[in-house]
Amino acid sequence: MTYDFDEQLPLRGRHVTKYDGIKPVFGTDDPDVIPMWVADMDFAASPAIRAALQAEIDLGYMGYFGITARADRAVANWYKTRHGWDVDPGCVRYTHGVVSGFGDVLATFSDPGDEIIVFAPVYHAFFRQAENMGRVVIESPLVERDGQFYMDLEALQAALTGNEKIVTFCSPHNPGGRIWSAEEIKALAAFCAKNDLILLSDEIHMDLTFPGVDFTPTAVAAPEHIDRLVVLTAASKGFNVAGAETGLLLAPDASVRAKVDKVIADRESSPNRFGMAILCAAFEESGDWSDAVRAYLSENNRIFTERMSAIPGVSVMEMQSTYLSWVDFSALGMTDDELMQRHLTAKVAPSPGTQFRHGGSGHMRFNLALPRATLLDAIGRIEKAFGDLQ
Ligand SMILES: Cc1ncc(COP(=O)(O)O)c(C=O)c1O
Repeated sequence: MTYDFDEQLPLRGRHVTKYDGIKPVFGTDDPDVIPMWVADMDFAASPAIRAALQAEIDLGYMGYFGITARADRAVANWYKTRHGWDVDPGCVRYTHGVVSGFGDVLATFSDPGDEIIVFAPVYHAFFRQAENMGRVVIESPLVERDGQFYMDLEALQAALTGNEKIVTFCSPHNPGGRIWSAEEIKALAAFCAKNDLILLSDEIHMDLTFPGVDFTPTAVAAPEHIDRLVVLTAASKGFNVAGAETGLLLAPDASVRAKVDKVIADRESSPNRFGMAILCAAFEESGDWSDAVRAYLSENNRIFTERMSAIPGVSVMEMQSTYLSWVDFSALGMTDDELMQRHLTAKVAPSPGTQFRHGGSGHMRFNLALPRATLLDAIGRIEKAFGDLQ
């Protein structure tokens, strides 16, 4: 089956954060601004997902959701066939999105005042969620080498205070789309074991690898350390269904799982009925849609990287996955405000790099999950905006 990712859906005025949030966040109500910030795609979800929702509507029942066995199997089967992790379906738990699950893990394994390690720059909710819960964020700077991020576990080891409880890990990485190697993941898990830390692996971007690139789940890279592992993931990024607010929490070790289960049970919430229908239709029936969207995004990334890298003073991190490109403007010597202003004047709204904290100044993160024509329009605007510097 072929899918049309070139169609621009009419998203303005439809409660779409990416479009309708431009005014409150960027302070402009110009309807021509191209949103390249919030991490979802402008594309329609797969036909199977839309049919599954339609079936719910046709039934007409919108009450509480019970019995997750089918979804548990769908998740386990997807992980096994796509990513090589033979996870027991009995390990799967449901949260109100991944960030909410992040909070559950923090609540389970740390107390206010405890330290949470975050490799930065990284997805901003990691910081916010930890700080909102009274935890102390310790930023472990990622080192950039040959256009790639690397963790510096030696420096982190030397900086430990003994108050750390959890290491948070974004795999694949946002921003920049890095796929961590099995060796790097293994070393991180060994570091956690050595220092008695819980390893929280956020794998939400696992289904956005570019064609030919494999993602290694943390549980596959380091099976010897699953006794300290909690995985958070979802269908939300890979299948563009973030509004379903349905996250997955997988704790393969029984004693770790029992602890998280207590926190989840205390919340007394049941899964979102529509989110569960979406999740099953994604993992059971939308594999070919996933392959098609990854190919489209990969080509978007190729075009964006080539054109942006040709602007003097601008360099683009090489991505292996995601649609969240990390672009370095620091050689231009502008302040972060000037950089953002120049983009907004060009009617393009990327995420400011400073949101991702350490190493973010002088950078912008661009969401490339746009119809090709819109992406080309955005690139042309940026080229023009920086043309006077050439
Ligand atoms: C690494 C990462 N984790 C979590 C999320 C958000 O997850 P959710 O919307 O399910 O809370 C994002 C969104 O961009 C993300 O990039």
